Amino acid sequence: MGLKGVILAGGLGKRLYPLTKITNKHLLPIYCKPMIYYPIQTLVDAGIQDILIVTGGMHAGEFLRLLGNGAQFGLKHINYTYQEGEGGIADALKLARHFVDKDKIVVILGDNIIEKSIKKSVDEFRDQPRGARILLKEVEDPERFGVAELKDKKIISIVEKPRKPRSNYAVTGIYMYDNQVFDIIKTLRPSGRGELEITDVNNAYLKRGELTYSILNGWWTDSGTFDSLLRANNLVAKMEQRSGCK
Ligand code: G1P
Repeated sequence: MGLKGVILAGGLGKRLYPLTKITNKHLLPIYCKPMIYYPIQTLVDAGIQDILIVTGGMHAGEFLRLLGNGAQFGLKHINYTYQEGEGGIADALKLARHFVDKDKIVVILGDNIIEKSIKKSVDEFRDQPRGARILLKEVEDPERFGVAELKDKKIISIVEKPRKPRSNYAVTGIYMYDNQVFDIIKTLRPSGRGELEITDVNNAYLKRGELTYSILNGWWTDSGTFDSLLRANNLVAKMEQRSGCK
């Protein structure tokens, strides 16, 4: 069974308006590169060559102009698909079904940027016979994210943006699923914000007893709000200045 990568880069980027009035959020700069470069590099560094980008909105064509077939990442080809409207993360993931086929996937949100490689967790997931694996990271503002409650080193619940978080472990936007995910998505109903929530997908795996996790090494940030976009730029600047923006 193979392992494929899916990058979710749709949405209207409303929280970054007017920066996203004339472009897609994932094309905005993070220091010396467009945002989308970082999740692509994360997948490539984890040994994933077969990648689908799910985008949407009015600027989807720009992804092709920017990335082409991914030669700058050492890829031979990039797959693209288009999300109509804005149905949330799990709704966007639905579009990956025919691309994924019988394989397993590593999904990354296009605005999630990390410092270190996830190769070890991805390899552990390759060896995991079935189910899902998520990556957690301790943060100071868990109420902004999906939050995992742990007991005896096991996840016992995940709550999306809880008012009173039961831990500091945010669920990062990197998710590994077997292909049961597509049947799970079919059972979901829209949440209060009118979206199919990825947290509901993770809770479905949890209920089946098939959800594992790793703690992410190094820093992690999203970049979909003014503050997190600035934070991402500052963190990436420090990292890229060391490597000379290669
Ligand atoms: C989404 C997920 C949330 C996760 C976060 C990571 O939040 O719903 O569980 O912690 O991504 O970036 P959103 O950015 O849609 O508010």
